Amino acid sequence: MNNNIRPADMKRINTPQLAEAFIAEQVAQVQAQVGGKKVLLALSGGVDSSVVAALLIKAIGKQLVCVHVNHGLMRKGESEQVIEVFKNQLDANLIYVDATDRFLDLLAGVDEPERKRKIIGGEFIKVFDEEARKLEGISFLAQGTIYPDILESDGVKAHHNVGGLPEDMEFELVEPVKLLFKDEVRVVGRALGLPESMVERQPFPGPGLGVRCLGAITRDRLAALRESDAILREEFGKAGLKVWQFFTVVPDFRSTGVRDGKRAFDWPVIIRAVNTVDAMTATVPEIPWAVLQTITGRILAEVPGVCRVLYDLTPKPVGTIEWE
Ligand code: XMP
Repeated sequence: MNNNIRPADMKRINTPQLAEAFIAEQVAQVQAQVGGKKVLLALSGGVDSSVVAALLIKAIGKQLVCVHVNHGLMRKGESEQVIEVFKNQLDANLIYVDATDRFLDLLAGVDEPERKRKIIGGEFIKVFDEEARKLEGISFLAQGTIYPDILESDGVKAHHNVGGLPEDMEFELVEPVKLLFKDEVRVVGRALGLPESMVERQPFPGPGLGVRCLGAITRDRLAALRESDAILREEFGKAGLKVWQFFTVVPDFRSTGVRDGKRAFDWPVIIRAVNTVDAMTATVPEIPWAVLQTITGRILAEVPGVCRVLYDLTPKPVGTIEWE
């Protein structure tokens, strides 16, 4: 039997009761698979890896070793939330690696989008490998593979991640949510007590803010990006807007402004918001004018080095969701 195929009679997990039953079943299964051995997990703070972490903490407690690599391209408060939820609240065995300088030094002066992605992806694996090598007695690697990963890419997420580890390190995989769809993973996450902001997190690319700080990343523009993105998220939340994905972008060109009676030559911030079903095509929602005005006012007042705010009206196609 191929255990990568969802059984035809498997119920859609859409109630807390069904989630509880799933959790109980997986806890027993993981305990049987792992025994007294140790499991390693790269915990990004995304929905899938967070739910796997919470599930495994319930099943095997401190036999799970979570590694959170902060590549310096996280959104505001995200790494802090990972530490707060998993280390402080769930008492997890969590290794936090602040690799910000390593990533930003490597990325300095690199302006080609695909090259930026390769550097970020490659360095991520390197940092994770280094941490894994420091640990002793790890027998399993846990992953947040979900069913669409298996359906769409024949398990590429799994192969890719494992393939990134040194060949002399052999791990058996633990993938407790691999037969679930995204909405089911969220229901399970909620039943495990994860905060709503984590369970309902919008999609966030692996290279993070790196592909939104356009061209060669600089620390000043990255800071402006992180602050403006936080303001956007806060105001969309306050307004109760239901939008699939939204974020800010900071281009690598300046624009003229006037502040306190003096000329400024600062960065623009672009607001990007899209609705989509599968990210293949996307439409741009009509955001209430008052909300856009509030966001614009706050970004101009609160984010240093920004003198202009724009709203991107481009649907996909022709424009992609990300700017690079
Ligand atoms: P585009 O920009 O291609 O984005 O319209 C479609 C969806 O994919 C996300 N995206 C990425 N996710 N690594 C990721 O993990 C990437 O390099 C990457 N590039 C784009 C994007 O945020 C959107 O949800």
